[in-house]
Amino acid sequence: MKAAESQVPGSSGDSILSAGAVPVIRAENLRKVFRSGDAELTVLAGAELTVSEGELVAIVGPSGSGKSTLLHILAALDTPTSGAIYFAGHSLQALTDAEIADFRNRRVAFVWQRHHLLPDFSAVENVAMPLLLRGIPAAEAMQIARQWLDEVGLAPRAHHRAGELSGGEQQRVAIARALVGEPALLLSDEPTGDLDEGNAEAIFELMQRLHRSHRLTSILATHNLALARRCHRVFQLEHGILEPSSISGRPGAQVKGEIG
Ligand SMILES: Nc1ncnc2c1ncn2[C@@H]1O[C@H](COP(=O)(O)OP(=O)(O)O)[C@@H](O)[C@H]1O
Ligand SMILES: [Mg+2]
Repeated sequence: MKAAESQVPGSSGDSILSAGAVPVIRAENLRKVFRSGDAELTVLAGAELTVSEGELVAIVGPSGSGKSTLLHILAALDTPTSGAIYFAGHSLQALTDAEIADFRNRRVAFVWQRHHLLPDFSAVENVAMPLLLRGIPAAEAMQIARQWLDEVGLAPRAHHRAGELSGGEQQRVAIARALVGEPALLLSDEPTGDLDEGNAEAIFELMQRLHRSHRLTSILATHNLALARRCHRVFQLEHGILEPSSISGRPGAQVKGEIG
């Protein structure tokens, strides 16, 4: 299950893999200014980020530094005030509304701090939902969803209502739901923020394992420096700028060969 065959909307048909050295996502000089009345808040002030296929990149920074804002912009859930974002070499700004919708729905997936599952639906129904919304026949969608639940270690809970699961289990379901559509880019916003230490570790280990087995590309916002340190690269977001973080001891360099 890979995103290798994914076609970038509007492209001449070159796949993400055949793009070779082209980064999965590149953000250039991103600025985001929130205005309310006369007040202006500059959250991003020229942030730059390039992430290649197979990388797991951590973004750390104090609360309110703009990590969520940055992820929302990279997912095309929000627009920057200025700057450019390239997905597999294609400018997001150049895409049509239909292509942006396709990018949001298929190329990129989000894992949130809160799982946002539908509590009255079963775990497997929650995971199948993105496929059902794409028009994939129910039997096929449920079969793929069951495989993903198995991958995240939750096959025995497939028919439990999401609302009955523990916080760690709900986050596993949310990860399966994010990956079921084989996105080219996974964005995770404090995915372990609501979990105790043991569950946070288990969820991070799961993400590492899925990274290896599916060659995922992902960006993880977290205030958990111990987990960030175990990502390929770490960036600090402060004063609207992304800087290679020194927490690794080797700023911006690969931290440890733990992944990939
Ligand atoms: N829609 C918005 N309108 C106005 N201000 C916002 C909006 N979204 C976020 N902010 C502000 O932008 C700053 C960065 O927020 P956020 O991206 O959530 O930071 P983080 O995720 O690092 O905690 C905060 O001061 C927040 O209040
Ligand atoms: Mg946030």
